[in-house]
Amino acid sequence: MKTIIEPFRIKVVEPLRMTTPAHREQVLREARFNVFNIHSRDVLIDLLTDSGTGAMSSLQWAAMMQGDESYAGAESFFRFRAKVQELTGFDHILPTHQGRASERILFELVGGPGKVVPNNNHFDTTRANIEHSGAEAVDLVIDEALDPRCRHPFKGNIDLAKLEALIEDVGAGRIPLCMVTVTNNSDGGQPVSMENLKQVRRVCDRHGIPFFLDACRFAENAYFIKVREQGYSNRAVRDIVREMFDLVDGATISAKKDGLVNIGGVLLLRDDALAERASSLLILTEGFVTYGGLAGRDLEAMTQGFEEVVHEDYLAYRVRATEYLGERLLDLGYQIVEPPGGHAIYIDAAACCNHIPAPCFPGQALVCALFREGGIRAVEVGSVMFGGDGHPPPLELVRLAIPRRVYTQSHIDYVIEASAAVFARRHELPGLRMTNSPQYLRHFTAEFEEVG
Ligand code: F0G
Repeated sequence: MKTIIEPFRIKVVEPLRMTTPAHREQVLREARFNVFNIHSRDVLIDLLTDSGTGAMSSLQWAAMMQGDESYAGAESFFRFRAKVQELTGFDHILPTHQGRASERILFELVGGPGKVVPNNNHFDTTRANIEHSGAEAVDLVIDEALDPRCRHPFKGNIDLAKLEALIEDVGAGRIPLCMVTVTNNSDGGQPVSMENLKQVRRVCDRHGIPFFLDACRFAENAYFIKVREQGYSNRAVRDIVREMFDLVDGATISAKKDGLVNIGGVLLLRDDALAERASSLLILTEGFVTYGGLAGRDLEAMTQGFEEVVHEDYLAYRVRATEYLGERLLDLGYQIVEPPGGHAIYIDAAACCNHIPAPCFPGQALVCALFREGGIRAVEVGSVMFGGDGHPPPLELVRLAIPRRVYTQSHIDYVIEASAAVFARRHELPGLRMTNSPQYLRHFTAEFEEVG
């Protein structure tokens, strides 16, 4: 069979509210051309993020009824810990309310002024938590990642020569840990190869630097290793996941991605002393070590989610569904970040709207056009998000993130039709002027007006 079907049937449905072009026009204007200001009921297909927006399975909902809401020693925690231990091999497993809570605890302990943290690409909350501690965050992804057309199979890899040069430059003593983000969200949801992870391990060992994963999308990364890296095609994804975690000293995880839940996170540590200090901070700001700011039922949903996410029929469908959207957009003439990533498609908006000068936000213009045309909510990942310091980022992208198990193929076909209509009129799209530019994380609250 050629068609990879959704490996589930639908038992509960949530109606979508159909909207008219006139309504969408009014909504967009009232939102001051910033889709973060739009109420979700006015969005038809919401591709803003894949984080916490997935659908849970019947087994996850059933598991939630077994939530043990005891303050200390809840059974739900021990079931959660056993599942995460089985998957990752870690002993110190701290639940947190989401990824950035794990990041905040970790970098409060190991960050600080004078410290430098390398990564392939830091996600924005990771970078913000590192910088908030006074440390510096450095991105060292391979150069191929900067070329949207380059079809390198592991475009998320860290550049080992750049890593060695950084260590040489600042000294290992100032590097509390080296991080690698799997998959690399900021450069297109691109995977990191096992070979690259092994080599980072070797570099870290040579210099006595701990090695951590930002493992939000660990299962998608493991699946890419299975289908793209030599020697892994006959290995179970579950084993590949274990091999990835065996290479590292710790990990931060947002379970809102590959935990298949709406809220939840994990902090994994091997070092006993560090784990003790992290537990104290967890108690101080998140909650006791057996619930970490979550309800017992949230832990149950995560436990079942971590089981389902390594099922290979699920991952085959997941990766193929994203690839399907990417292939159709390429057929239409869009330049996307190639090859398609695991959780999202990233359109090269600078190439699409090359009549709009960079200071007039071509990415945001494309986001507005997709909403006008089809009620589709995408997100700009370019000069609005990252250009606040006056230095526009190298790529001007628009991300279409795919929530897990939420939309069917006909929803995606609808997105493709709307994208085709936008593409046909791409040279008529107006640019934007920012009328209100907040100092921090401005993409969330910036306001715009259309120009020319
Ligand atoms: N690391 C990566 C690679 C992420 O993509 C995210 C979240 C986080 C850490 C933080 O996790 O949201 O649970 O605190 N990414 C979402 C996104 C928000 O839309 O890409 P969190």
